[in-house]
Parts: sequence; C-alpha cells; structure tokens
Amino acid sequence: MKIDFTSAPSPSYLVDERLLVKNLEILKQLQDRTGCKILLAQKAFSMFAFYPLIGTYLSGVASSSLYEARLGREEMGKEVHIYSPAYDEKDFADILEVSDHIVFNSFSQWARFKDQVKRAPHAIQCGMRINPEYSEVETGLYDPCAPFSRMGVTEANFDPDALDGLDGLHFHTLCEQNSDALEHTLEAVERKFGKYLKDMKWINFGGGHHITRQDYDLDRLARCITAIKEKYDVEVYLEPGEAVALNTGYLVSTVLDVFENGMPIAILDTSATCHMPDVLEMPYRPEIIDAGKPGERTYTYRLGGPTCLAGDVIGDYSFDHPLHVGDRLVFCDMAIYSMVKNNTFNGIALPAIASYNDKDGIHVIKQFNYEDFRTRLS
Ligand SMILES: Cc1ncc(COP(=O)(O)O)c(C=O)c1O
Repeated sequence: MKIDFTSAPSPSYLVDERLLVKNLEILKQLQDRTGCKILLAQKAFSMFAFYPLIGTYLSGVASSSLYEARLGREEMGKEVHIYSPAYDEKDFADILEVSDHIVFNSFSQWARFKDQVKRAPHAIQCGMRINPEYSEVETGLYDPCAPFSRMGVTEANFDPDALDGLDGLHFHTLCEQNSDALEHTLEAVERKFGKYLKDMKWINFGGGHHITRQDYDLDRLARCITAIKEKYDVEVYLEPGEAVALNTGYLVSTVLDVFENGMPIAILDTSATCHMPDVLEMPYRPEIIDAGKPGERTYTYRLGGPTCLAGDVIGDYSFDHPLHVGDRLVFCDMAIYSMVKNNTFNGIALPAIASYNDKDGIHVIKQFNYEDFRTRLS
C-alpha cells in the first residue's frame, strides 16, 4: 500500500516498517549464511520502538556511550557492545552492569579499567580497537585512519605484553563503502595484527558496510567473513548503523512560504541544521519524492528551513508544479543519522516520530512540545 503522507504530522520522521524488515532480512541472511553476528550501531538509528522487531533479526546493539548501552539493554535485551574513545570513571560501574562486550581505545584505558572488569557482577568480554592505518574514506571528517587519529591503537603503539584478559580486536575504518574496501582493509589488518588475532575469540569489523544498498557485493563480504573465521578460528561481528535503516524513513514537511530573490525560494517547517544536520555536515543532498535536480523539471526552488542560520538550506530542487503554502514535501532516506542528531536550535520544535505498516497505517509514536525544548536549557 502507498503511504498517504498528507495524514502524517508535519514535520515528522516516518519509518516504513516494511522497508526496515527488507533490510533486516538481508542482514539476517548474511548471519545465517556465514555465522557472523550483526549488531545495530545505535548511533545511526535509535528508534527503540523498533528494537523488539530488530532484535528478532540481529544479535544485539553496538553503543557509543553508557546511555546508548542502557537503551540497548532495556529495549532490545540482546548482546550489548560498547566502544568509546575514552571511558569516564564515574560511568564505568553502570557500563559494567549493562554491557557484554567493552572495547577500549588505548592500552592506558585498558590498564585503568581492567581490574574493575574482572570484578564485574557478570562475565564481560573485552576488546581493543586497532587502527590499521588503511582506509579508503576520502572525507577527513569520517576518516579514522588519518594522521594523528585518536581512533584505535596503531601497530607501532600496540603492546603485545598487555593482551592478557583481552578477548577480541575491533576496527572501524569504512564509511558507506562496498565490500572491496573491506577486503583491502582486512589485508592491512592481517598484515599488522594477524599474529595477535590468533589468540583472540573474536574480531569486530565495525560499521560503514553499506550492505543493504542495491549494488553491494554480498558474496565478497561473505567470503571475507568466512576467510577470517576459518583462518583464525574467531567469531566475526559487524556493527552497521546505516545499513540497518538505509532508505527506510522519510521526513514529512510542509511549505510555509514562497517568495523570490533572484530565484524562487520556499521556506519549509523543517530545517537542515535542526532536523537533518548531516545535509550540512556530510554534506549530502536528500531526494524528495516527485522532485528532481535543479532545472530537470519545470519549476526550480531553493528549499530552506525556518531558522536564522543563513545557510539553513537543504538544496535546490525542481517540481512539475509551482509550490504553494501548505504543500507537503517528503524527504527520503531520513531514518538514519537524523533523529539521533537533531536539535532545537532557535526553539524549533523537533519533528514527530511515526511508523507505518500495512496493518496499522501511520502510527504516531511521539510528538514533542515546549517542555521538551525547555527541560534541556536550565
Ligand atoms: C565504531 C563504529 N561502529 C559503527 C559505526 C556505524 O557506522 P555506519 O552507520 O556507517 O554503518 C560507526 C560510525 O561512525 C562507528 O564509529
């Protein structure tokens, strides 16, 4: 069934359960085929209303903080993994309580927390993030292998004498990439760290695998996983975020005003800087249903948000019809890195959160109000 976007709140993030299940099935098949374990990287998508569903397909969650770990424990209740560039002493007892795997970023952090892990109320596996100093990411902001990176231990800084108690190695070097980039990365990982992997129980390949993208080479990924599993007799974990909810959600918005300044401009009730910050940060251009590139269709507009930021511009888009106040515009691929990163700059309200399935239609899960804005500020 087609979603009737006119009956969704505006603005709202609307996640289509049917599309989410499609992605989850691909990921589950990969787990079944290779015996790997796939975790949801919550940093990309933490819409926990779907965690019970996601938990029927995936093995657990990857977390970047105590709060994410706790959310994964409480809302999904499967394996909880955590990695942070540095843990804070004041959080650590709570982290121990909710986590199954803790990945450290340096040997100094490992030395600092090792004894507390040993005394934890339940068994916890520990890992070290390694930096293979190989990546094919071209944007500096997303390259964990750039010179002077703070992400993971390089070969030169690896301490083979401090491995007692460590169960696994973790790397994360990909960003929206295909499995050829993983294959090349694994060559560097094996060359530099293969000798230590032999004594480990697992390796975590991190995120950035664009597994649910149409042109993704799943066979190559399966070969990579199987080769490492067999050669080193280890369990393989993957922790994609994007791939779980890629192309499963929309941001429904409404035109608030239309005017001219050298070109037609439309102001929407949704903001790039507040509601889709990666459009400015990454940067990227989201697709809009029934719209094209500038000039591709008859009427081209610059679309912007209602904040004071001059650069709160989503982009230039063309339409078959002129835009009018009250028109609905629906942005695609808005489930990931959107809800988790939004903010209330300028006092702009957060979009509602909704889901869609054929049985229930549009279900509004959460709407935000003045109190949500106010409580963060004093
Ligand atoms: C350690 C780690 N794991 C997993 C991910 C998820 O990556 P993605 O959403 O690109 O799959 C990230 C993203 O930054 C990460 O830093």
